[in-house]
Amino acid sequence: MVVNQEFCDMHSHLLPGMDDGCKSVEESVRVLRSSYDQGVRQIFATPHYYPVETVDTFLKRREAAMQALSKRLEQVELPVPQICLGAEVAYRPGIGYQEDLEKLCLGKSRYMLLEMPSSPWSDEVVRSVRNMCSTKGIIPIIAHIEHCMPMQSRDVLMRILEQDVLVQMNAGYLLRFSSRGNGRRLLKNGVVQLLGTDCHNMTSRKPNMGLAMAYLEKKGMTRTVREITALSQSIFREAFGE
Ligand SMILES: [Fe+2]
Repeated sequence: MVVNQEFCDMHSHLLPGMDDGCKSVEESVRVLRSSYDQGVRQIFATPHYYPVETVDTFLKRREAAMQALSKRLEQVELPVPQICLGAEVAYRPGIGYQEDLEKLCLGKSRYMLLEMPSSPWSDEVVRSVRNMCSTKGIIPIIAHIEHCMPMQSRDVLMRILEQDVLVQMNAGYLLRFSSRGNGRRLLKNGVVQLLGTDCHNMTSRKPNMGLAMAYLEKKGMTRTVREITALSQSIFREAFGE
């Protein structure tokens, strides 16, 4: 694929053996190479965090997976995107009050990729997100909004979106005939500001950022592509500590 722009992928499961994403270091390298070929120059590694383990245990596992991958990348000596560590943090009741929640933010930033419940959001969900933002100073990035949006009333959606949150959509939503019109609308209306691939492997859930951006370009949404890229790259720089 020929690309003339550079992108940042906000959401991926590329770390080997961390979750239901890449199963091996080799698969991780293939995902990174494919991402790079599509113009991705920065990528957030966001393995699922579920409270079945402590945050510290998760962080140790994540560090070990990253070290194994870095070692292989040194041997491969091929260009790949810069990687910044993060997590896709599953919502659970009380999460907004969790002591060590900040450790799960994207790199050194205050942004946190948050996987919201796919059931209707209760008042407790709204309160917890509000507490995350106002008391903890975390900026939640709502992961793949298209997964949970159909179950929400307009009222509850507005109560979440009026907080200091950002919203991410999966690139694949723009590539399916049945959903791409709605995906474009969510971008045009400003509901969604960020794209991620949520890539897991090189088979069923491949990296597809270049395809989604090319689709937006084809639809005349060059400005949107630029805005998504500028915002995601600025978050990456902050997270990476540049
Ligand atoms: Fe994900």
